[in-house]
Amino acid sequence: MSENLAVFNLNCTACPRLSRFLKETRQKYTAYHARPVPAFGVKKPKLLIVGLAPGMHGANATGRPFTGDHAGIILYEMLYKHGFSNKPVSTNLDDGLKLKHCRITNAVKCLPPENKPIGDEINTCNRYLVEELKTLDKKAIILCLGQISHKAVIKALALKQTDYPFQHGKAHILADGRTITDSYHCSRYNTNTRRLTEAMFNTVFVQIKSQLKI
Ligand code: URA
Repeated sequence: MSENLAVFNLNCTACPRLSRFLKETRQKYTAYHARPVPAFGVKKPKLLIVGLAPGMHGANATGRPFTGDHAGIILYEMLYKHGFSNKPVSTNLDDGLKLKHCRITNAVKCLPPENKPIGDEINTCNRYLVEELKTLDKKAIILCLGQISHKAVIKALALKQTDYPFQHGKAHILADGRTITDSYHCSRYNTNTRRLTEAMFNTVFVQIKSQLKI
């Protein structure tokens, strides 16, 4: 039977540079997940959050998006505050954290060197995002964290990039009823420089919550 390349695969080696880097990382940090990181959350989410890629000592170590590094602290706090989870902190796969109505994934599933995936890798990994987006219902919101994930989502939905420019706080209503909401990424850099403050991020979630009516 031929392999379905669009279904998430823990043994994916489609990107040579990333697969080499993961191999090196597995040798250096033997306790780390150091594989493609699967999405986390409910199967049929009303809110799909799309980040960039696993961080070395975060998702790459723990195997759960945004878990174990700075970017995840503010994200999981926000999710709890707005009723999307049962606890405010994500620490590891066995911590009992459950998301409600929500799922989190990344535009690129593997750890990239220096946190920077290259264009080819973002494009190759897009096949997984295409599948993940297919499971969303018509009223769902896709929250894109940062410009790269926004562009990856536009590509995965086969929309025209110039029709949907990234803009923090903007809700792009799509013809099929779904919404793409943009936010600056909740990275350490963006929060330290106050490009994204907690208040700004909170406003994004208030808007999402009122739109979803949950
Ligand atoms: N961790 C993730 O899983 N994704 C990001 O975009 C950043 C940190």
